[in-house]
Amino acid sequence: MSGKGARKPSVRKSSPEHRPAGAAESNLSDQIIRGVPSGILAVDREFCVIAANPGAARILGVRPQELENGARLVDVKAITPFVDVVRGVYSSRAANIRKEVLLTVGGEHREIGLSISPLDGPGDFNGVMVLFADITERRNLERSAELNRQLATLGELTAGVVHELRNPLMVVSGMAELLMRDLDPSSKTYNSADIIFQEAQNLERAIAQFLSFAKPFEIAPAPCNPKELCDRIMQLCQPRAQRRSVWLQSTVAQGIGNADLDSARAAQAISNIVGNAIDAVEEKTGKVKLALSQDESELLFEITDNGPGIHLQDGEDLFKPFFTRKESGTGLGLAIAHRIISAHHGKVTYYNRPRGGACFEVRLPIERKRDW
Ligand SMILES: Nc1ncnc2c1ncn2[C@@H]1O[C@H](COP(=O)(O)OP(=O)(O)O)[C@@H](O)[C@H]1O
Ligand SMILES: [Mg+2]
Repeated sequence: MSGKGARKPSVRKSSPEHRPAGAAESNLSDQIIRGVPSGILAVDREFCVIAANPGAARILGVRPQELENGARLVDVKAITPFVDVVRGVYSSRAANIRKEVLLTVGGEHREIGLSISPLDGPGDFNGVMVLFADITERRNLERSAELNRQLATLGELTAGVVHELRNPLMVVSGMAELLMRDLDPSSKTYNSADIIFQEAQNLERAIAQFLSFAKPFEIAPAPCNPKELCDRIMQLCQPRAQRRSVWLQSTVAQGIGNADLDSARAAQAISNIVGNAIDAVEEKTGKVKLALSQDESELLFEITDNGPGIHLQDGEDLFKPFFTRKESGTGLGLAIAHRIISAHHGKVTYYNRPRGGACFEVRLPIERKRDW
């Protein structure tokens, strides 16, 4: 036991002589602190809780008892990344720092924005005060807005060029395919024609992606059978999986009813994600799984792989147009997927699985939202 539970809060209380007015004041400030939706947490130099409001436990996804006065923050394992950030600021003795941290709260990935300040000023550093809020929605909105701005510019730029390229390219791949029909598959010439065909296909795919950006984006939701949607995604992705000898399978939970979706767009979004998973895994030993389930209000598509997982540098964003680590990548697949999913009022998130590989989660509301 550290005995820190007995440590007095360093927050000044009103003196007894002024009790009537002071008590009312402190009551009021207590009420305000309890009522604010943000999290407020004060800890002493041993990282034991001095004060925490109900918002703190709610945002961090822990039980209020875990943040009781005297509780050791290091013991609250679910918020380790949060504690690490606060500790980092504390040891640097920096004053009034803003940070962001990713936490898994109730199985969901949340972004928490923190403002950390010393409790008694840098000269006498008795602990820290942390003000924080869940900024996941705001960040998602900012990302979508930024993405839409970029997409509009990109659309204008590419529409013209892309149209000019598409037709000749289709002729190239068509001719290469014709040539292959007449050639012996073990010959060198067949191999060359095959390379022309594959590369032309890659270019066509890239052009199709550019066009998706260039066209005005509209979504036409209609009742659709999610199982059929899954089948369509598998159809779209099987050829790519076969080319790389990757095991690709889908599972669909029982009893999934119809959902209001733009099924062509949704299939495009999810097959972009499945396609990336196929690209990410090793040839022959690679495994990719698409699992569809549902809860009361959402369909959940989980795309898991046994690839290297996702490792980003500071400031990198997978969903940003042109972010790619592939030699012949466009960096548009996930940007398009994000756009389609957001237009459905859905969400796409990802995480690295504890046993390796990545998992993308796509949540799509079953019922159409009003502003469609
Ligand atoms: N399942 C995954 N595993 C590892 N990295 C991934 C996965 N999915 C996407 N990525 C990364 O995200 C990047 C962007 O994907 P995307 O927007 O589809 O563009 P592209 O596929 O053209 O590179 C990829 O280049 C890859 O580095
Ligand atoms: Mg891609």
